[in-house]
Formats: sequence, structure tokens, C-alpha cells
Amino acid sequence: MKINQSELECVAVKPAQYPEPDKYEIAFAGRSNVGKSSLLNLITGRKALARVSGNPGKTRTINFYLCNGEFRIVDLPGYGYAKISRSESEKWGEMMENYLEHRDNLLKVIQLVDIRHKPSAQDVQMYDYLKYFGLSGVVVATKADKVSANEKQKNIKLIRETLGMDKTDIVIPVSALKKTGHDKLLETIEELLANAEN
Ligand code: GTP
Ligand code: MG
Repeated sequence: MKINQSELECVAVKPAQYPEPDKYEIAFAGRSNVGKSSLLNLITGRKALARVSGNPGKTRTINFYLCNGEFRIVDLPGYGYAKISRSESEKWGEMMENYLEHRDNLLKVIQLVDIRHKPSAQDVQMYDYLKYFGLSGVVVATKADKVSANEKQKNIKLIRETLGMDKTDIVIPVSALKKTGHDKLLETIEELLANAEN
């Protein structure tokens, strides 16, 4: 699959602001700065569809991107950003729960982890949470350009073990910098959408 057309359809902080649940959605979750917005730009072939920043905590809203006029990719605000206040962190939790637990047209949440590091306690917590709601199974290991081929395999194994992934769950290494791995991710998204139609 290719995404030939993409646009920011909607920015929301509460359910009343979400677009109509008339199309399937695939969301990106992961800690702040892991590369969610960069990944979105990579798979849509757009340089600046989503704002990318070296400062963690850039995306603080739920951003709905309409792709090919057919489905949406949803960029969720990152977690694990140390500099936010307690009230902001509560707002984040509520915003995520509202979306992840009640959005019927949400097909899958793709969780992003940094290929260089062992997944954090928060990454594990998120994966468990997604598992509980039947939304887990696809992980993208970001910033694959930062490790050697040898390290890549070793680190993917560590990611699988730490997150407690099932045999059928998949890890896709991707580099937004080198523009690699997105074909496999797009194939996976295509399969998810095709299976949902049946
Ligand atoms: P928040 O919006 O804060 O949650 O962050 P995010 O997950 O959307 O991350 P973003 O895409 O803004 O990227 C964060 C930083 O990582 C930026 O400086 C990117 O340039 C860098 N980055 C993202 N993907 C890659 C990658 O594949 N390789 C390398 N080397 N850097 C990357
Ligand atoms: Mg972002």
C-alpha cells in the first residue's frame, strides 16, 4: 500500500471533538520523543505533515490524519515526559483512556519503542494495557539507523522479551532518517484494514 493523500483532519483533547467514527483508525503510541510524528511523515511521504521536534512533549493533542480518504492514522500524545505537571499528566491519562477504551473504530495501536534501549517500565505498562483491550501486537522499533545490524537483532529480541510479546506479535525496525522499514509497516496496515473489512 501507498499513502498518496494525507491531511490533518482533526485535533482533539476530548471525545466531542473527535471526527465521526466512520472510518477505521490505527493509532501510534509511545513515549515522548520516540519518533511518532516522524514515522507518520515517513509513511505518508510528507516532510512536515506532523510536527517533529527535538523537544519532547511536542504533540499534546490527539491528532487525526485522514489517509487516502479511507482510514485514519492517529498520533497520540507521548508519555514519559518528565517536565509536565501532575495535573497535565492526569489530563493526559484521561485523554488516552477516553480514546483507547471507547473508540469502536480503533483497529490497532502501533506501539513505538526506541531500538537502542530496553523498553521502560512505562512502555511495558502501555503494552500490557493495549493487550488487555485487544489492541496490541504490532511494535515499531524506531531510530534503527542508530544501531548496527548485529545490535538490531539483539535489541529486537530484548524488546520482545521485555514487553512480553507473543510469537505472532511483530516488531518492525524503522528509520525515519534513512527512510527504511516503512514498506513493511504499510503492508501490515494494509493487512489490518483488509482483515477488518471481512
Ligand atoms: P512527541 O510529539 O514529543 O511525543 O515526540 P514524537 O514521538 O512525535 O517524536 P518526533 O517524531 O518529534 O521525533 C523526536 C526526535 O527524534 C526528533 O529530533 C527526530 O528528528 C528524531 N527522530 C525521529 N525518528 C528518527 C529516526 O528514525 N532516526 C533518527 N536518527 N532520529 C529520529
Ligand atoms: Mg509528536
